[in-house]
Amino acid sequence: PPGSGGSGLGVTAKDALGNDVTMSGWLKTHQPGDRTLAQGLKGDPTYLVVENDGTLATYGVNAVCTHLGCVVPWNKAENKFMCPCHGSQYNNQGKVVRGPAPLSLALAHVDVTDDKVVFSQ
Ligand code: FES
Repeated sequence: PPGSGGSGLGVTAKDALGNDVTMSGWLKTHQPGDRTLAQGLKGDPTYLVVENDGTLATYGVNAVCTHLGCVVPWNKAENKFMCPCHGSQYNNQGKVVRGPAPLSLALAHVDVTDDKVVFSQ
């Protein structure tokens, strides 16, 4: 299938230019604690997370607000995802901590196959 990482269900993460996100390239330019957007499952903007120990997290955080669907920016200073539309807030792992959002941000599994970063459900 297109974009398959080998499992048949995964999609290779794409950067803002539409290029495949590779482990070797991506991690070089990111710092512990960073959250950066990639294109994920169904084309949803999804954050890749660098853990505090510098490794890529095995989960990605879907950036689509569970209230009405705005893309939620990461606020590094506040250590939260903060929706600009109606003020919902999510902690650094996407758990909702302030409404009106009814649910936490969805998570995707993140794996690395042949150096490519792959999202799956
Ligand atoms: Fe995010 Fe309404 S769309 S708070």
